[in-house]
Parts: sequence; C-alpha cells; structure tokens
Amino acid sequence: MNSSRIVLIKFGGSSVSSAACWHTITTQIKRLLSQQQRPVIVCSALSGVSNHLAHLASLTLTKTREPIATAITEFATIHHRMCEALNLPTALVDSAVAELTRLTQLASTAVDSSSLPSSPEESHPALKAKIMALGEYTLTTIGHAYLTQQGLKCWLLDAGDWLHSLSQPPAALPYGLEEHYLSASCDYTYNPELNQQCLNSPTDLVITQGFIATDQRGHTVLLGRGGSDTSATYLAAKLGASSVEIWTDVPGIFTANPQEIPDSRLLLQLSYNEAQELASSGAKVLHPRCIEPLAATQIPLRIHWTHHPNLNVSTTVSTHGHSGYNVKGICTKKDIYVFSMTSIKMWQQAGFLADIFVLFKQFHLSCDTVSTSESNITVTVNGAIQNLNDDLLSQLKQRLSSICSLSVYRDCVSISLVGQGIRSILHRLAPMLKVFEDRKVFVVSQAANNLNFSFTVLSKDAPGILKQLHALLFSATTDPHLHIFGPTWKQLNQKTAGKAPQTSTPSYLLWWQHHRAEITAMLHSATMNTLPAYVYHLPTIRQRAAELGKLSAVTMKYYALKANPHPQIITTIADFGFGFDCVSYGEIAYLKDQLATFEPQRIIFTPNFAPITEYKRALQDGVTVTIDNLEIIKAHPEIFAQQAIMLRIDLGTGHGHHEYVKTAGDDSKFGIPSDAWPTLMSLIQTHHITLKGLHAHQGSGIDSMTTWRDTAQALIGLADTIPADRRSADPMLIDVGGGFPVQDHPEKRSAFCATTFNTELLKLKTCHPGYEFAIEPGRYLVAEAGIIITEVHQVKTKHQRHYIGVDAGMHTLIRPSLYGAYHHICHLHPPPHQQKRELITADIVGPICESGDVLAHERRILQAFPQDILVICGAGAYGRVMASQYNQRGLPAEHIIDDAPPHNPVAPL
Ligand code: LLP
Repeated sequence: MNSSRIVLIKFGGSSVSSAACWHTITTQIKRLLSQQQRPVIVCSALSGVSNHLAHLASLTLTKTREPIATAITEFATIHHRMCEALNLPTALVDSAVAELTRLTQLASTAVDSSSLPSSPEESHPALKAKIMALGEYTLTTIGHAYLTQQGLKCWLLDAGDWLHSLSQPPAALPYGLEEHYLSASCDYTYNPELNQQCLNSPTDLVITQGFIATDQRGHTVLLGRGGSDTSATYLAAKLGASSVEIWTDVPGIFTANPQEIPDSRLLLQLSYNEAQELASSGAKVLHPRCIEPLAATQIPLRIHWTHHPNLNVSTTVSTHGHSGYNVKGICTKKDIYVFSMTSIKMWQQAGFLADIFVLFKQFHLSCDTVSTSESNITVTVNGAIQNLNDDLLSQLKQRLSSICSLSVYRDCVSISLVGQGIRSILHRLAPMLKVFEDRKVFVVSQAANNLNFSFTVLSKDAPGILKQLHALLFSATTDPHLHIFGPTWKQLNQKTAGKAPQTSTPSYLLWWQHHRAEITAMLHSATMNTLPAYVYHLPTIRQRAAELGKLSAVTMKYYALKANPHPQIITTIADFGFGFDCVSYGEIAYLKDQLATFEPQRIIFTPNFAPITEYKRALQDGVTVTIDNLEIIKAHPEIFAQQAIMLRIDLGTGHGHHEYVKTAGDDSKFGIPSDAWPTLMSLIQTHHITLKGLHAHQGSGIDSMTTWRDTAQALIGLADTIPADRRSADPMLIDVGGGFPVQDHPEKRSAFCATTFNTELLKLKTCHPGYEFAIEPGRYLVAEAGIIITEVHQVKTKHQRHYIGVDAGMHTLIRPSLYGAYHHICHLHPPPHQQKRELITADIVGPICESGDVLAHERRILQAFPQDILVICGAGAYGRVMASQYNQRGLPAEHIIDDAPPHNPVAPL
C-alpha cells in the first residue's frame, strides 16, 4: 500500500495564516509534483478562527443579537484580510458570511424555543458543528482560489464526502449530542476506490478541510479540537498514502516544552507508541488521536516547520523510530487535581475500588493515574479538560463520605518521563530521584504500557524539577544517541534567526531594508551628521493614502495633523484629496503657512478645553468647528449663536491601545454624553445654532473592526432626532473619527481591514441615505513610514541584566515610556557572520535621567556594541511631534526618502 504516490500534507492554523505561508504551501506542492507524487492538502482554519466560531456559537445561547452581528463582522474581517494579502477578491468570503448569519439565526431560534429539538440535526451541538466547520470551509475556498491563481489545477474536496463518523446520531435526546457532533471518530479502513479516484483525477492536487466529517445521515460532525491532524491521518489510511507531512510552527517534538526549556532537544525519531504517549502526556505538537491510524497502517509521519521550510532536521514517526530503551521526553500536564481517599475499611475488602470508581463514572470524571495502598487510593484528574467546580467536588465528597474520607489537592502538575521500555531503565533514572528531595510528591506512577513514569507535584515546584530533570537526562550524556536527539530549540533559533521568509516581513520593516545603503550614505553625509534622527518614506505614506482614498463609503477624509505635521508629509497626503483634522488653532495657523492654498472647507477643528479665542478665530476662518461640551455654548452664546457647527458625542465606551488614548467613556474628558441630548437640542434651538453633523472619536489604535460601524450607527440614531430646521447640511456628516490600528509587532497580524470597514459603512449608507461619512485617521497613514536611526554608545551588564544604551530616549520617542508601546528595534545592517553575535535579552535604554527612559524592556536582540547603528521601527506617528528637549538634549533631525512616482488614482472599492 505504501508504494502509493499519494502524500497527505496537513497545514495547521499558524501555517495557513499569511501570504508567506501560502508561498511555502505552493513551493511544497511543486516539490511533490516534481517527484511525481499526488499531494492531498488538509487545511485547518486561520489561526484563532475556531475559537472565534466556538465563541460565536456560544453567543447564540444568549438572547442578544448584537454581539453575534459583531462577531460575524470580525469573521468576515479576518478572511477579507487574508484575501487581500493573497490578492484575491474579498467576495470569496460572502457566501460563508451569509451561511454564518443563517446558522446563527437558526441556533438562536432553537434556543428561544427552549423545548427539546425535534431531531438531533436541529440541536445546538449539530448547529455548532456547522458553524465551526465554516472556518475550514472558508479557508479552503480561499486556498483553492490562491493555488489556482498560481497555475495549479486543484480539486476542492469536501472532507465530509470522504470521512464518515462511526457513531449513529443519538436517539435519546438531548444526551450524547456533544459527543456525536463535536468529537467524532471516523472509519479509516483502506478504500481502493478512493485511492484510484485520487490518483486518476485530472488535477495536480486535492485540497480539503481538516476537522470535518459527516455522520451516517450526511450531517456535519467535527473531530474535536486539534482534529485536523487526525483528518490527515484518517485520510492517509483510507487512501493508502505513502506518507504524512504535518506542517506547523515547530520542527517537531522536543524532549520538553521548548518555551519552558530552551535547551530542549529536537527528537529526530520516534516510534508510533512513543509519539502516542508523548502526545497523550502533554506534548502539544500532535493530536493524541492522530497516531492510531498511522500505527495501524505503518504510514510514516514527518513534522515540518512552516516558517523554515528548508531546515533539514525534524521529527519522523515511523516503524524505525524505536531506538533502544531511552527516555525520549519529559511532558507536563498542568491543572491536575489529586484526590486522596483514605479508609481503613479497604483492607481485604472486595469491590472497594469498584464502589469508588462507580462514583467517578457518575460524576463523569476520568482518572489519569491511580495509586493504591492498604488504606488509601490516590487518583489524579486533569482539570484542564474536565470541569471540576466546587459544587461538583462537594457533592463527590458527600457521596464518598460513607466509604472513605476525601482530600483534594488542586494546582498540581504531573511530570512524565516518556520512553519505550522505561521499566528496564529505572536503574539509570535512580540518580535523578534526588531532585525530589524536599519536594512534595503526591503520586508516583509507572504506566502499565511500559512507556511512562510520572510524578505528580505541586505546581510551584514543577519548573525547578523540570529544569533539573531535563539537564540530567538530556545533557551531554545523551550525545551517543545523536540519531535520536537533534539540536536544541535555542540552537535552532540561532540557526534560523533572520531567515524568516521575506514575504512575511511586516511592512514597517520592508521599506527601510531596501534603503539601507541610502540611509548609511545619509549617515555619513552632512545631512545626517547628528543622531538620533527620524527618517520617513513617502511612498509608504502614498500607499496608505491611496488605500484609504479607495473607501467609497467615505465622503470626507481628514488627516489628523497631530500624528505627524512634517511639511512634505502633509503635502503628500493633501495630494490624495485629504483634508485635515486640527485640534488647536496653532495647527490651523500652521496649515495656513505650509499649504500652497488654504481651503477652510477641508478643515475640521476638534478642540477640547481650548481657549475660547481659538473657536472664535476658527469660525471666522470658515473652518468647521466641533464642540464637545454644552457649557461652552451657555458661556459664549455670542460666539456660537446662528453658527453651523458639529457636535462631538461621547457614546459611552472608549477603545484604544492604552488607557491614555481612549477618548470616550466615564473616565474620559472628551465629548458630550448622549444622555445630555435633550438639553443639547433645546440649547441649539434657543441659540439658533444649526448642525452640520455629529462626530465621535473613540480612541487610538483600536483593535475591533466593528467600532466605526457601531459608532456610525449610534450617531445616526441620534442625528435622526435632529429637527429639520436645526440641520445645516443635507446629507448630514457623520464623522466616525480615526484610531485605525497598524501592525507594530512581528507576531501580531495587521489589525485594520479597509474592505470590511468600507463594506460595513456601505451597508449603513444604503439604509440611511440622508447621511455621509467622514474619517480622520492619523497613525494609519504615517506610523509604518517612519523610523529612528540611533547609535549605541554604551552597553553594560548589571546583576545579569543586559543594557544597551542608545542616543535616542524618551526625549526622542516617548511612546514606550508613556504607554508601554512596542517598537521593533534591530540593527540597521545585520552584523557580519564571522562576528557570531548571540541573541540576547536586553533592555534598550536612552540617556535621560529617568528610570522610565526605556525604549524596550527585555527585548530579544542580537548583541550590540558601541557604534552599532540601530533602527527603531514604526515611529512615524506620534514620534518626533511628541519629542522634547528634556535634559537639554535637543530635538531629533528629520529626513525624507522618496523613490516612487506620484500616485495613480485608483478605482474606488
Ligand atoms: N481624531 C481625533 C479627535 C483625535 O483626538 C485623534 C487622536 C485622531 C482623530 C487620530 O487618531 P489616530 O488615527 O492617529 O489613532 N499619542 C498617542 C495617540 C494619541 C491620539 C490622540 N488623538 C500614541 O502615540 O499612541
């Protein structure tokens, strides 16, 4: 069977969630095709989507629709972003969004009716399975379109056509529904017909969903969390594949969790039994259920690291994995409960254990390990997967009280040494038992399968024990077994540092890496002979302005000048038709100075607690003024009477990357609370004030894509009540503010999606034609286009903490000190290879006499030395404009890089 040309490749959530991942997927498909293999690709949902859909399904159990609508929009956004990253039309997601809307309505109706479902298919678990399956269905639709675009002929197979669950839909409702629909097992008997269908298909490859199967009535069921691995191995067995490849975010299984023990070694070979035991004992790389089909059919499995596809070491699980008796790994399981049951009645009494375990069964408690003596039974239960609430524990205690007394110890950890034939190497483990000296051990258990030796200890002791055990078991002494134990996680990270595929590079890194030579030349020229200095890239700003320029739902686009008022930046943005949002008369005066023509109708003035003279001058200039309190109208009727103005409303909840930048809600000084609306209306009547529109800005760096839609909806709700004679504009303006987020961290995905933003506002516009929309972003246009160039002056190590001292500090960029903001920092030029610099953890600090003068806390960075030049990324917004001369250090210089032709107007979205 294994001579078949079929290879199953499974890509997990983190391996399908970026354009770089799809580039890797394409390359791997082409590799297999060049070897005359037939790839069958199994994909998980995008990272985080299964959790999101599970949450959405749980929302249908409550009676409120609003959070459901928001969660559906978030689902659309996540997938729109993926389409945009892959240059695919976002319409690919439409049918999934429509189906999600339909299913959630059905699920809510089923809950409302509160009677038993008339058939299993109408039950909540059945609908939840369909809701959650949309994650995989949507991603494979996108993946199929992408691969087709790459010139590959692919067959988009519905996994439910090939994978069928073994259980019957339950008859005695509502029992057994969860297990049937959400935790199914499938038949994986070899099917020669499917093998032939797959091999004879006129396509290059098959792409299908992980996690999904159908039951015997053809309804969707799920294989349980992490079930995509199992889909791949079920399919491999059914198709008689020659091998399985699991592509994920690590190169394999390690001797311990590499996040906890960086010296963990990669396990190169494992037997099926060992892989099964490691997976069941807590190693998270493979799902425990995925091994069985492979072991039964002896198909080998190899794990690959998606972000480093060319790394030539990884874990293989096969019949060759058995390599003598060795401990292969240490696994931990957290949240373990120890139940210690004591009774003298136990002695020589038949059925005592049965009496106890029957109660465990009744309480649905599954025991991991058991240890018995003449007067005590101790068992461990995994609290991470079973619901052990206080109520259940006290009921169990009460039921047990007639047989024994129960003591429960929470917050324990089980530490398991895993390896084939562990019993025969106990003598070799003897020296390490010393690590348990002075530590409380609740249970020691040697599993009957001869693969596992476990200790249950207090969680506070676990990290120390783990570290010591690992050092004793997997240090140099294991070097004769180099064919089993590969490099450490630390070594692998050093080897791959800086080698992540280019296409995954966040945009804040991209432009300046292409301009290194120019920046270096600037450094040596008279134009940049002082550091620190800001450098801005106008083409990046143009690209952002063009993107927002395409928002067809938005009539007025104002740039929030405060983010960065550099003269060339403002003229660049103005060229794209943007107006300006100003917050002081100083900013208005600055624009009068800087712009060739001052057009007051393109300026919106949104002051807060400003001197009254500023309002007066702005109104005289013909600028649109926004008022954010009632009191100012009462105090200065002579200024506002008869005027046409905007009102800034506080809708009750602020959003943003830090408390200080949330500009609505009880703790914020901004805006007129909406409960003051009746007073406000009578005040404007009294003073014959008319309204051009309403405004709300919730904050800066907002991470929920539904904020602006919700803002618009709430403002329209208020605006609808404005009497006709108080309106000075038709349509009225609904200004939803700024606050669009940017990607600032390599591991965070870009949070803003222009398509979703536009789609949501367009929907509102269609229902409310009497309004038009305005936005006023600052950060989004400029943040990623700016960097700071800074020189290292001193480095030191104090109490084992490394410090890298640079000439930029809180006087240059205050965001890290003020908001704990993250800015990526790295060398302008990667240091030459022969210098062999290590990755260290250091605080990157400035020269200011304040302990808060820290640009980055405990940052992983290549060792730095005096005269090295570093780059602080993502500093184009709220950087130089918030700099100060504190400690008489002077303001940083600013430089512009411009290498692109002016923009071509783009068609609206
Ligand atoms: N509109 C109003 C009324 C604002 O107050 C602001 C920003 C904006 C628009 C633009 O927000 P953006 O799109 O840039 O998020 N210094 C902080 C940000 C403070 C934002 C103040 N107001 C930071 O460095 O994160």
